[in-house]
Amino acid sequence: MSQIVYVNGEFVPAAEAKVSVFDRGFLMADAVYEVTSVVGGKLLAFDGHIERLQRSLSELEMASPVTMDELLQIHRDLIAKNNLEEGGIYLQVTRGAPDARDFAWPDPAEVPSGIVLFTFEKPLIDSAIMDAGIKVMSIADERWGRRDIKTTQLLYPSFAKMQAKKQGCQDAWLVEDGYVTEGTANNAYIVKDGVIITRELSTDILHGITRAAILRFAIEAQMKVEERLFTIEEAQNADEAFVTSATGFAQPVIEIDGAQIGTGVPGDISKRLREIYTEEMIKAAI
Ligand code: PDD
Repeated sequence: MSQIVYVNGEFVPAAEAKVSVFDRGFLMADAVYEVTSVVGGKLLAFDGHIERLQRSLSELEMASPVTMDELLQIHRDLIAKNNLEEGGIYLQVTRGAPDARDFAWPDPAEVPSGIVLFTFEKPLIDSAIMDAGIKVMSIADERWGRRDIKTTQLLYPSFAKMQAKKQGCQDAWLVEDGYVTEGTANNAYIVKDGVIITRELSTDILHGITRAAILRFAIEAQMKVEERLFTIEEAQNADEAFVTSATGFAQPVIEIDGAQIGTGVPGDISKRLREIYTEEMIKAAI
């Protein structure tokens, strides 16, 4: 069966989908996106992703081409049309396609925003990486300063990930002014003496939907949480480290810049948080 995608109001086979060469998402990364996980054909943390989408849109004065209720229906239709059981949905809203390339934004009354959604399959529950954990490399954070807005300007994170792969790592942790900001596409945590430490929310990092849920579950499970800055050196001396994202849940980190974390295998707190997260999110899926 060919994949069905959603483009500007229509469900079409992926091979027939078209967007304009003048689309500002394509020309200027003038677009915001969300990735929502699907397990058992249902959406995880949908409300959180939609709230963040609205925030990204409003921070960039971009109009939404559909209502948030319509978005839920489009997500559900796409799941059904693609028989998606486990994986996710990628959603992108762009500032549309004016007649000419111009740094100034077009008037939204004249140029409607564009919207694209597509599904992808990915094993989320049984993930081999969970047993092994990932190795990360540190690299300077050279992204723009509004990382709280989920834009499609992903060249630097993509570059950082490639540098990490060249070093035999699966991901990079970005570092600014001596402190870890986040991973290329995930939030970063360390655990020391039972305390879960992660950077506080600001414009420096994406406000992860998984992060919010993980911290809430950790507190509910009587674990200690500290939202503060930490360095690579502190991370290398931690008992555990892990990252969170919609498509990775909580993934243990076992090595940072060649230094083994804890005993070099996924830590108990990381594993426990993943278990709780998986169980609770599946219960609440819609
Ligand atoms: N990335 N930080 C960054 C820079 C991210 O790109 C992401 C998500 C996160 C985690 O956010 P959440 O828990 O809401 O998924 C943190 C998605 C998954 C992606 O780009 O594919």
